[in-house]
Amino acid sequence: MAKSYWITILPGDGIGPEIVDATLDVLETVQELSGQFALIYEFHQAGAGCYRETGQPISTEALDAFQRANATLKGPVGLPDVRKPDGTEAGLLGGVLRVDFDLYANVRPIRLFPNVRTPLAANDPDSIDYIILRESSEGLYLSRGVGLKTRDAATDSMMMTRRGCERIARYAFRLATEKRRGAPADDRRRVTLVDKSNVLRSFAFFRDIFLQVAADFPEIEAECLYVDAAAAALVNRPGHFQIIVTENMFGDILSDLGGATIGGLGMCPAANIGDRLAYFEPIHGSAPDIAGRHLANPTSQILAAALMLQHLREPEAAGLLEKAVWNLYAQNRMPLMPTGAVEGGAAIVAKELKAVLKSTAEQA
Ligand code: IPM
Ligand code: MN
Repeated sequence: MAKSYWITILPGDGIGPEIVDATLDVLETVQELSGQFALIYEFHQAGAGCYRETGQPISTEALDAFQRANATLKGPVGLPDVRKPDGTEAGLLGGVLRVDFDLYANVRPIRLFPNVRTPLAANDPDSIDYIILRESSEGLYLSRGVGLKTRDAATDSMMMTRRGCERIARYAFRLATEKRRGAPADDRRRVTLVDKSNVLRSFAFFRDIFLQVAADFPEIEAECLYVDAAAAALVNRPGHFQIIVTENMFGDILSDLGGATIGGLGMCPAANIGDRLAYFEPIHGSAPDIAGRHLANPTSQILAAALMLQHLREPEAAGLLEKAVWNLYAQNRMPLMPTGAVEGGAAIVAKELKAVLKSTAEQA
């Protein structure tokens, strides 16, 4: 008897529904080829569209489904014109789900695929292959919605706790152990803490704890880098990195930078993981300008599904899906346009990928 997993699907806004559809189409083939498990879906509305209709970014039914599911697959959310009274964007779920359910580990793989145009000179496929581990339960974004504001000033404050720093540091070293390879440049297993401990004491606190945790993993190289230097290094020598662990806002910024170096955010998935619950999503927004125009690249959403399979402990299916995405690019079957959009859109990519999945499975 095949195992079943209950998956909550939040298609999101803009291009969300089309890239999620394409992903579910691909997952059907993955399940057929594996024969080991079945995914059972429950769909719920969430995001800016939901906020506009109901005044809430996510319904209580959806929150309930999120908590019952083995995992949740979420599309991108947010629409520029849907705002809260304080001027911030409405319908963003990160604040709700990550903070309320303590999903502290935001895992963001950055990998350069074949035949993708990157703005960097070094452009061999796989010469960039690292993970940004973004702490996502505290840091500066803990102030989301609760900062102080008067007519003449506004403040948001950053919080680091011993527990928060320690568990994310441990997570980073575990990831370094589990990842299939070390840093592309020298094959070393290496965790880099990115901080600003030369200026802020919260970061000096994080660094102390990071170095204490590092002592428990003598086989893994531990290093620390200031965030400004890290931004330069991600452009100049991205092959040096295997795992980068950092504070919430720094991780947000650096992961978009990393995404740009591999040819665009359309190829960047993320996992949001806590001790009990998890959800999987693209790192980018909902691109409403191209929604419904057959231009969306579903790669980020499909790779998010691969991260989900990994999390469900279906490593063979996850590996097959990742390999097939790699092959799709290697065989030049991804009609990528210079803008990062895809000619023909998500459904076409799904169709091609399903064929590649079959040939990839045969070769294995
Ligand atoms: C991300 C996004 C969100 C975040 C925004 C939309 C609130 O940028 O997941 O990177 O910063 O958490
Ligand atoms: Mn972001």
